[in-house]
Amino acid sequence: MNDKLWTGRFSKALSDAANDYNASIHFDKRMYAQDITGSMAHAAMLSATKIISEEDGEKIISELEKILNELNEGTLAFDMSCEDIHSFVEQELTRRLGDAGRRLHTARSRNDQVAVDIRLTLRDEADKVIALLKDLIRVICEKAEAYKGAIMPGYTHLQRAQPITFGHHLMAYAMMLLRDVSRLEDAKKRMNVCPLGSGALAGTTFPIDREMTAKALGFDSACLNSLDGVSDRDFCVELAGAIALIMTHLSRFSEEIILWCSWEFRFIELDDAYSTGSSIMPQKKNPDIAELTRGKAGRTTGNLVTLLTMLKGLPLAYNKDMQEDKEAIFDSFDTVIMALTVFSPMLETMRVKPENMRLAAAKGFINATDCADYLVGKGLPFRSAYKAVGALVAKCIEKGKTLETLSLEEYKEFSDLFDADVYEAIGLEACVARRQSLGATAPAQVEKQLNFVKNELASMK
Ligand code: ARG
Repeated sequence: MNDKLWTGRFSKALSDAANDYNASIHFDKRMYAQDITGSMAHAAMLSATKIISEEDGEKIISELEKILNELNEGTLAFDMSCEDIHSFVEQELTRRLGDAGRRLHTARSRNDQVAVDIRLTLRDEADKVIALLKDLIRVICEKAEAYKGAIMPGYTHLQRAQPITFGHHLMAYAMMLLRDVSRLEDAKKRMNVCPLGSGALAGTTFPIDREMTAKALGFDSACLNSLDGVSDRDFCVELAGAIALIMTHLSRFSEEIILWCSWEFRFIELDDAYSTGSSIMPQKKNPDIAELTRGKAGRTTGNLVTLLTMLKGLPLAYNKDMQEDKEAIFDSFDTVIMALTVFSPMLETMRVKPENMRLAAAKGFINATDCADYLVGKGLPFRSAYKAVGALVAKCIEKGKTLETLSLEEYKEFSDLFDADVYEAIGLEACVARRQSLGATAPAQVEKQLNFVKNELASMK
């Protein structure tokens, strides 16, 4: 059993149960590289400011580098009896270097140390999510390009509403995911300030150079209030919020995919590599990946609530409650990374069935608005046109007809403004092609949306 960092004041060891309860090494060991990088920057600064000797500084840095390599290669095992990753690295360093190792923690506390580690860790994780989001947006754009002329029913209240194209529908998700990228970029900017040197809470009596460590660790600046430095977990909340929203977007998309590959819709078919079967029903092909994504959105929302609730009653500065931040935010990252990793290829390999979409669009009076717009074009006020077409639809339902199969005489019973050109006006292709307003469903407009998203992607580094 290793020595606790706080031996001296205490006359008894921590009880085993309390020790287990207190420990965080089983989940904070994933920050070992960041912890060591932070310590190397701290040691370099202590040496540059002559707080420790140059010789000790060099020894510490080269030994930390060795420890990092050994952990990377798996030749050094974590001592799981240590309380946390910080204690483990310091213990290992001291075991190897003696007093030089004992000097590393000068002008530092685990409170600023962990605050640095988690920022460095999440900064990298956020970059992974951003890259995966961009991949998914690219896949969506490719599909949207291919199906920008594929007519499908657009829905409101899950009732057939107006004809749109599959490309237009897909691009709505590209817009959401683009906002998700910018939310993460934005959170990254705010979190990229360095708390190292905040000490336990009040700063330090040593003449440290906080700008030096901030720069060495790739931060934009050093945080300006040491109490805030050690107790700020806003970035965890912001990132968890951004992730919960990404998962919410993927969940909505999943719900549609689940509907679309049902036999009621048959708009798409998922590739076998991204579908599962049933243990009893031989005919089944289930969209488990989409369902799991919809389900996992719940846990990322849960993690956001966990973080907000954990923080809400905390007095300044550090409190042990804050150790609870890691499992929640790591789980959010792991979940969204897994989801995005499988979602993109699932989408890329899905087979789209435009003929079924077109058939579904041909039923359900999806062109009724266009029929009303036709009358408006002939001079009738929209509200009157709406009423006339409403009555027309009621007649169609009564007679088992559609707007396409109604005769011109029948049309004229409702308004003499109807002419033979009404049939062309309510043709689905015409309905879609005429929706030329900004952001609308006409292929030329969807093309613009595609260009916008592609340009945004290209302008991001
Ligand atoms: N494991 C702790 C955490 O994650 C590290 C900081 C410990 N600081 C302390 N004063 N006990 O928050």
